[in-house]
Amino acid sequence: MALLLGIETSCDDTGVALMEDGKLRGELLSSQDKLHAVYGGVVPEIASRAHLEILPSLFQRLLRDCGVGMEEIDAICVTRGPGLMGSLLVGLGFAKGLAMGLEIPLIGVNHLHAHVLAAAMEKEVIFPAVALLISGGHTHLYYVKSPTEFKLIGRTLDDAVGEAFDKVAKLLNLPYPGGRYIDQLASKGENRGIFTLPYVDNQNLDFSFSGIKTAVLNYIQVNPGLPFSSMPEKIETMDLEIIRKKGLLDMCASFNHTIARTLVIKLKRALSMYPHARAIIVAGGVAANSIIRSYMEDFCREVSVPLFIPSPPRCTDNAAMIAFAGGFWYKRRLCHDLFIDAIPRGKEIPLDFKEI
Ligand code: KG4
Ligand code: ZN
Repeated sequence: MALLLGIETSCDDTGVALMEDGKLRGELLSSQDKLHAVYGGVVPEIASRAHLEILPSLFQRLLRDCGVGMEEIDAICVTRGPGLMGSLLVGLGFAKGLAMGLEIPLIGVNHLHAHVLAAAMEKEVIFPAVALLISGGHTHLYYVKSPTEFKLIGRTLDDAVGEAFDKVAKLLNLPYPGGRYIDQLASKGENRGIFTLPYVDNQNLDFSFSGIKTAVLNYIQVNPGLPFSSMPEKIETMDLEIIRKKGLLDMCASFNHTIARTLVIKLKRALSMYPHARAIIVAGGVAANSIIRSYMEDFCREVSVPLFIPSPPRCTDNAAMIAFAGGFWYKRRLCHDLFIDAIPRGKEIPLDFKEI
């Protein structure tokens, strides 16, 4: 029996979780959404200060809730990157202190791989798989041979999918992070094919989403009545009839469907280039999107390949996925020493494990 602590502080959510032999004992998540909402994006300095404030008490509350003593923890799994440097350092520093004090192994976890493996928390995944990771900062395609063997086969050349959703939301005067607002508006609208599929007329597995974001900006400039005049607090309380008249629902639907179709085209291509793959995984915050989920389900049915997609709460950042992903390294008896660095976005995460 191994009890692993997971710590997640890569961006604007502080998370802690306890995982026992792949089973979740308990988790806590403190979102900073409200702190950043009015700025239209995460303010790194505010994010790291908030992590620093909340992490120790969140950890103690988790132990209390689970009835677990600190000395019962066998290893600490912490997000090492990619993410915001200041935010990562808070989690990593805390994890190092605990690992040193308790004299237990420290495992630095790749946040993106953890998102993908989150799909295996709820249902056993078949490997090898082609995985599409769509989050706020990344759009990656992987060939995943096993839970510890990831090969990057495609990536965005500019904006990540989540970034495109958030930027479009910002143009519409919606709060940050705006992806889920667009999702709700788009689900009530009709796809009128306003936007063209971005970066699909090629042979590669890469993506580009900055063009469609600019197309939305241009569309809004021609239709200046579209954005909300004041930032709504909750989309549920908006008068949908008024929004419908303005064509906002249809614009959001066109945007969302275009993104979903683009992702399916590249996924299909990846599957033909990696025919050994026996499953498809779709993960990351944007995998919570209802339209994208239904496109993925239709596509996987069409090609008769099983789809593994985490339930919506498991798509966005959480510490359970960090403990779960770290568990695969722990099982291989691999960990890190206390000198490991946090790795910011855009830098390769080395496989610098050592034996426990
Ligand atoms: O994976 P995640 O929680 O954090 C990162 O590692 O980036 O992803 C956050 C991203 C944000 O861009 C957010 O707007 C987007 O996921 N997101 C969604 C939905 N829920 C979250 N985008 C579209 N539709 C959703 N339902
Ligand atoms: Zn994430």
